[in-house]
Amino acid sequence: TYVITQPCIGVKDASCVDVCPVDCIHPSSNEPGFEEAEQLYINPDECIDCGACEPACPVTAIFEESAVPGEWKSYIKVNADFFTGQ
Ligand code: SF4
Ligand code: F3S
Repeated sequence: TYVITQPCIGVKDASCVDVCPVDCIHPSSNEPGFEEAEQLYINPDECIDCGACEPACPVTAIFEESAVPGEWKSYIKVNADFFTGQ
């Protein structure tokens, strides 16, 4: 799965949402909670590992799970936890 990390915080460019073929990045700008969200999140149960979102992000916030930089490894859980209970 791919993971959204710290550089997204406060940026939420959302270009990633536009290129994701399975619509697994939330909340998108037309969903409730977008304004309040710190960042966007990738649903690990729905991501098909296509990689399209990674180069679309202008602040390089997206990494394949195994390539997440050490200081941002906690974001793997942060992304998954956003969808817990949904
Ligand atoms: Fe969507 Fe592909 Fe990115 Fe996964 S890797 S979040 S499926 S664009
Ligand atoms: Fe965030 Fe980059 Fe997507 S800033 S919303 S991960 S395009």
